[in-house]
Amino acid sequence: MPPADYFIGLMSGTSLDSIDAVLVSFEQGSLTLHDSQSTPLPASLRQQILALNTSGTDEIEQLAELDPELGRLFADACLALLHRHQLKPAQIRAIGSHGQTLRHRPTKGYSLQVGDPNVIAEQTGITTVADFRRRDLAAGGQGAPLVPAFHHQCFHSPNHNRVLINIGGMANITLLPADPEKPVIGYDTGPGNVLIDTWIQQQRDLPYDKDGAWAASGKVIDSLLNRWLSDPFFSAPYPKSTGRELFNERWLQRHIQPQMQAEDIQATLTELTARSIAIAIQQHDLISPEVYLCGGGSHNNSLKQRLEQHLGFGTQSTAVLGLHPDWVEACAFAWLAYRTINHQSGNLAAVTGARGERILGGIYLA
Ligand SMILES: Nc1ncnc2c1ncn2[C@@H]1O[C@H](COP(=O)(O)OP(=O)(O)OP(=O)(O)O)[C@@H](O)[C@H]1O
Ligand SMILES: [Mg+2]
Repeated sequence: MPPADYFIGLMSGTSLDSIDAVLVSFEQGSLTLHDSQSTPLPASLRQQILALNTSGTDEIEQLAELDPELGRLFADACLALLHRHQLKPAQIRAIGSHGQTLRHRPTKGYSLQVGDPNVIAEQTGITTVADFRRRDLAAGGQGAPLVPAFHHQCFHSPNHNRVLINIGGMANITLLPADPEKPVIGYDTGPGNVLIDTWIQQQRDLPYDKDGAWAASGKVIDSLLNRWLSDPFFSAPYPKSTGRELFNERWLQRHIQPQMQAEDIQATLTELTARSIAIAIQQHDLISPEVYLCGGGSHNNSLKQRLEQHLGFGTQSTAVLGLHPDWVEACAFAWLAYRTINHQSGNLAAVTGARGERILGGIYLA
């Protein structure tokens, strides 16, 4: 049997679209992606998770039930990858599981992910690393974003300044100066797809705005955009991170007036994501950076065009750098597990605001 060199990364993001699983291996810390798969989240589970994103009744019971249920789904996603490659659990060194975020409130000192790692370890027979964010929070950090360290490992170039933009439910940026003396900067810029998805789900009963086609049919409402952009989150200094606690349906409904057309609101939401990302990047004087997109929002053409227009230059997909944009996040959590198993830190203190670099997560042995 070959040595246990494989890792599995599991990501279930704020968009609540699917459970992403990747099978990867590392050589000197550098990653090879062998396979990936996406399992849609069942609609009933999606509703349960959404309900737990905000305060309600009987939360403890609901959370306690959801935790092992999601753990079982995460385990199934791993077992499917194993099966496809005829791999035995002993050939996988560890699973890195992000878990499903229910609440992320760093200002109150917590971030809560569920998907019980005990269940994952038990059902797969594979050591599982999970709960990556809370050590960083305990060290005074935001617990987020964690992907910039991985972006730095995978995508740093000594020849070019680079910017990575991950457009998931929320959007986050990583600035990678070519000069190794300059710090990596990374933070959440605000909503990514979350409000765009919410509006089209509510108005047209579609899961997302495919390729941004609906947004492209509308016109930006400047007054609405400016009111939304006046939210203090956008002008707050970094470190900062956010989630559905702020950018949710209630936030979206603020400032909407009855005479506004639904497609114009969609165009304005798309502009909001593009503009807030561009404004954030332009605050840092990174000269002629190469800009790479990842996350599901990288497929939204309308969003991409608006972003390029505000940045004043083109963007490319991380596929150009050898990693498909849909799998960067799941790969990041495989990498974080690799770091933890090897007793190496996973956070960048300059990004999260933690007191120092820390070995992240809890290890649930097989
Ligand atoms: N072809 C497409 N056109 C427009 N939007 C798309 C397309 N494909 C995916 N998306 C968007 O991407 C979203 C999923 O993105 P992704 O999986 O990166 O986010 P996530 O699960 O929230 O992850 P995270 O927030 O942790 O980065 C979908 O909900 C949808 O809005
Ligand atoms: Mg997703």
